[in-house]
Amino acid sequence: MTHSILVATDGSETGARAIDCAVELAASLGAPLLIIHVSTNERPSEGLRQYAETEHLVDPGPLPPPSSADPHEALPLDYWEGLAPDEAESGARDWLSVAVGEDIVRRAVDCARAGGVSDVRSEVLEGEPAGAIIDHALSRGADMIVLGSRGLGALRGVLQGSVSRKVVHHAPCTVVVVR
Ligand SMILES: Nc1ncnc2c1ncn2[C@@H]1O[C@H](COP(=O)(O)OP(=O)(O)OP(=O)(O)O)[C@@H](O)[C@H]1O
Ligand SMILES: [Mg+2]
Repeated sequence: MTHSILVATDGSETGARAIDCAVELAASLGAPLLIIHVSTNERPSEGLRQYAETEHLVDPGPLPPPSSADPHEALPLDYWEGLAPDEAESGARDWLSVAVGEDIVRRAVDCARAGGVSDVRSEVLEGEPAGAIIDHALSRGADMIVLGSRGLGALRGVLQGSVSRKVVHHAPCTVVVVR
């Protein structure tokens, strides 16, 4: 019997399908749903940058000083391009992590509520994604993890990404991998 479901998403299309699947399961089982996104603290990947751009989290415009960066407001498209490497590492990384993470889970929560899940929570975590997903499932008592087979990773032709593979191999609970 499933008591509590954790779904992890990186904002990818497959991650969105994982949300749909988890919502369907949680709604039909009457189980609480915890939605998480893990910020990786790495330089923004091409996939993350594309997400930020297509979701209009960034806009072309003049470059603001890094200190004025507000994660809740759109920043110029070339924000991280115009910064010195060190600043780009910290400024762009921190801003994108917060803005994208919050946006991803907010959409997923809306989707869960629309899908009839009454007990839905969300968290944006930091760290290594597979480890954070498993640790969080354990600490929150989730007995099912739902995630996508692939994510924002750029490699074509790969059936299962590294996060998905690690979670399947190491999680002590049921794992549902959505294609
Ligand atoms: N940072 C993350 N936060 C939350 N969930 C994640 C994160 N990264 C991946 N996932 C989950 O794992 C699924 C598979 O993503 P994964 O990262 O394994 O594939 P990939 O990005 O295609 O490959 P790779 O990252 O190895 O290049 C995603 O659909 C999502 O459900
Ligand atoms: Mg990935």
